[in-house]
Amino acid sequence: MTTTSVVQAAYVVAGVLFILSLAGLSRQESARRGNVLGMVGMALALAATVALALEQSHRPWQVTASLILLVLLVGAVVGTWRAKNVEMTQMPELIALLHSFVGVAAVLVGFGSYLSEPHSDTVHLVEVFLGVLIGAVTFTGSVVAFLKLSGRTKSAPLMLPGRNWINLAAVVASAALGAWYLAASGDDAGAGAGLAPLVLMTLVALGLGWHLVASIGGGDMPVVVSMLNSYSGWAAAAAGFMLGNDLLIITGALVGASGAILSYIMCRAMNRSFVSVILGGFGAEGGTVAAGGEQGEHRETFAAEVAETLANASSVIVVPGYGMAVAKAQYPVADLAEKLRGRGVRVRFGVHPVAGRLPGHMNVLLAEAKVPYDIVLGMDEINGDFAATDVVLVIGANDTVNPAAQEDPGSPIAGMPVLEVWKARDVVVFKRSMATGYAGVQNPLFFRGNTAMLFGDAKDQVERIIQAL
Ligand code: TAP
Repeated sequence: MTTTSVVQAAYVVAGVLFILSLAGLSRQESARRGNVLGMVGMALALAATVALALEQSHRPWQVTASLILLVLLVGAVVGTWRAKNVEMTQMPELIALLHSFVGVAAVLVGFGSYLSEPHSDTVHLVEVFLGVLIGAVTFTGSVVAFLKLSGRTKSAPLMLPGRNWINLAAVVASAALGAWYLAASGDDAGAGAGLAPLVLMTLVALGLGWHLVASIGGGDMPVVVSMLNSYSGWAAAAAGFMLGNDLLIITGALVGASGAILSYIMCRAMNRSFVSVILGGFGAEGGTVAAGGEQGEHRETFAAEVAETLANASSVIVVPGYGMAVAKAQYPVADLAEKLRGRGVRVRFGVHPVAGRLPGHMNVLLAEAKVPYDIVLGMDEINGDFAATDVVLVIGANDTVNPAAQEDPGSPIAGMPVLEVWKARDVVVFKRSMATGYAGVQNPLFFRGNTAMLFGDAKDQVERIIQAL
């Protein structure tokens, strides 16, 4: 058996492990197993690729091995350092940054591939062109997403006049440059004659990626994160075609397809059309300017009072949001739920699909705090139950419980399905101030007669309630 056939067999096994990993990750109960399968698959893929590189290398194997070891070491040290230090709330921006690496890798592989074989067959030339195009869009798009998600630039959409025409012009220009590139790379052309159109297209694609994501506003960022996830998969698949690496094609296609499915789920959860989000600025046109001002009188409450209300309740729904992640309040929240359940109160959690800053953000935090899966329900499962509920505890959620989404057609979040917490008998909102949520829109929930505001850090306040109970 040759090394190549062993490597091919290892790639097939790794591909199967990746598919099983995705299947495992689709349910909370099997997510750990899914992660382990993915890690085993990746270790196998790395070992097989190193073996292949050693066999195909034209240098002495010791030199190749040392070079590979060096890059593996640098990658492992940086990766371990980041994984250990990153806060859960910084995860989305880290993911956006990692997507940008995949994009830049596809661009570099494309240029490397073109420069080493400028006169290859048309299929390969097209692979290179598309790989660089997707990689460049992914790169700048992910960098802008990173800047927005980390708060380094404002998250409001950039609304350039005629923005859809700008996007269309970039696509048409890329197609024209593609035709020039293919013609210039013909056999009788000078070496690297297609380089000029390739470089020009890269610049256009870098601008397109930047503009596409800059045009998307705060509330629609969940779709952008999953969309860039999908793009990074297609960029990796394109790199796989350029390098003739089957596993990279399979893995890239798996990431690309699952990212596309996630984007679709996110769009459905937010009642947005995928096309309008991609084209940018949805909901910002003609909408009321993000209203940050007060909309009436709000009522303030205190931990002891909330404890008393809870002591007399028979049904409670906890609605977590991004603020719970910031406060790291999931552990005391889980303790409070346990305590109430011990007293015979029916406690459930209602999780909005885009609560927090990552798909599944709240589910991960609640699982971390060992909240039983069967009391954590999705928006569609719990929305009908608020009217028959005594108390709703809104822990650091804001946009996802904003009635303006249903009641104010001019609101930037109009049409987005929300958790209808205001239908409960009493609502307690845990937050530090009257500040707006991620979308920058004021929340009329805070001024309703059955809502009380519990100001302060969510973790401290929940701990106080537990003490008072
Ligand atoms: P947000 O609307 O982001 O509001 C979070 C609230 O938490 C804020 O109003 C903040 O108010 C409060 N808060 C912050 N730190 C706190 C602390 N230590 N203690 C108590 N409260 C604290 O939350 P949400 O309802 O989860 O909505 C998520 C938003 O993010 C949506 O607009 C969604 O579209 C967007 N988004 C989601 C994703 C994904 S994939 N989930 C990705 C990108 C963007 P104070 O400052 O007054 O405390």
